[in-house]
Amino acid sequence: MSREELITMTRSLIDHGAADTMEYADEVVQVPASTYTDPDLFELEKRNIFRRLPLMVAPSCELPEPDDYKAMDICGVPLLLTRQRDGSVGAFLNMCSHRGNPVVEAGTTGNATRFMCGYHGWTFKNDGDLVGVASQKDFGAVDKAALCLKRFPVYESAGLIWATLDLNSKLSIADYLCGYDDLLEAFGFDGWTLFSQRTLPGPNWKTAYDGYLDFYHLPVLHKDTFGADFFNRANYFFWGPHQRLSSPSKFAQKTGSDEMLDLSVMSDDELPQDALTQGVWTIFPHISIASFYGGGQRGAMISQLFPGETVGESYTTQYYVMENRPETDEDVKSAHEQFDFLEVVVRDEDYATGKRQHEALQSGMMDHVLFGKNERGGQVFHQWVDRLTHASDPKVEEIFAGEQKEAAE
Ligand code: FES
Ligand SMILES: [Fe+2]
Repeated sequence: MSREELITMTRSLIDHGAADTMEYADEVVQVPASTYTDPDLFELEKRNIFRRLPLMVAPSCELPEPDDYKAMDICGVPLLLTRQRDGSVGAFLNMCSHRGNPVVEAGTTGNATRFMCGYHGWTFKNDGDLVGVASQKDFGAVDKAALCLKRFPVYESAGLIWATLDLNSKLSIADYLCGYDDLLEAFGFDGWTLFSQRTLPGPNWKTAYDGYLDFYHLPVLHKDTFGADFFNRANYFFWGPHQRLSSPSKFAQKTGSDEMLDLSVMSDDELPQDALTQGVWTIFPHISIASFYGGGQRGAMISQLFPGETVGESYTTQYYVMENRPETDEDVKSAHEQFDFLEVVVRDEDYATGKRQHEALQSGMMDHVLFGKNERGGQVFHQWVDRLTHASDPKVEEIFAGEQKEAAE
């Protein structure tokens, strides 16, 4: 069960913390600098990673009510998500079957049972059915049933929604998650509320993602925000390409207070849920989740990263989700302050550094970059990107069927 697995991880973190040790990777690893700057590789990654693998496209609380919808553009693919009457989510290719116009404008959200294409007026239900051909007599006979919006594979679990932007994908999204969504259940996002969201521009998507996968940089790059005394060690836990990193420590902050709890003296039953989910949880290839407390509520920042137009650009949507909507003005203000603080950290520290790093790498004057034994997360991430970028479709299915089997054993 997931609590048992969380406790095992926590005990390992406590033991390492008490012994002042951490888990190391076997060696220092080199990654070619060109993997961050090569425009051809970038196009291949967009095609074989982002347009082929399941992506976490929205937290469930972004579409809480029947008929809620969201349209987005991901690596050139127009996606429409709808919450249908039966509570399930539909993920559709957002292209009118008449001549391909997006039925809903990308970047918009709302609540609607039907969508009328803004070009010639064909109408679709939010379950994808084509229900109206404008001036049908004049247009001529068509088989409406064959002209529904096309469906992408979709999966909702742990209060998060995944879709695969490949209409012919045979990859099981549950297999792809390697059991990781069972662990993500521990956050309890199902039933939480979306407090606020924003989108930030960033550097190359891998440069940006590297920053979510190490604590090594925390007391240096974030000395003015998190502080120069912040821990810089992380132990890593893996489920296929998905990983959690957390600092080896026997202490955890008590939820909503400055008090530090000594976890080493607690029984398994006494370990608080928040202590069990400490650290950063990443969902390959583009999500990072971390807990925060603000506005009198447990909250989490879910960062969703996508490649941008060029190899040196990405954009990140930060969703600030909260267990309950803050009620008093003071709590709302404090939740906004918490969220704004995280914007400053990411925009002015992580991504500003990433931009400078990317510009320097673009010079082509460096052959490779390094990931230390204490940066196992980055090592593993780049190995998975490389492996999946260059694998055939059947090979990708085989890899995840195998991972799923391992996770079940
Ligand atoms: S393209 Fe949608 S109605 Fe013509
Ligand atoms: Fe950072």
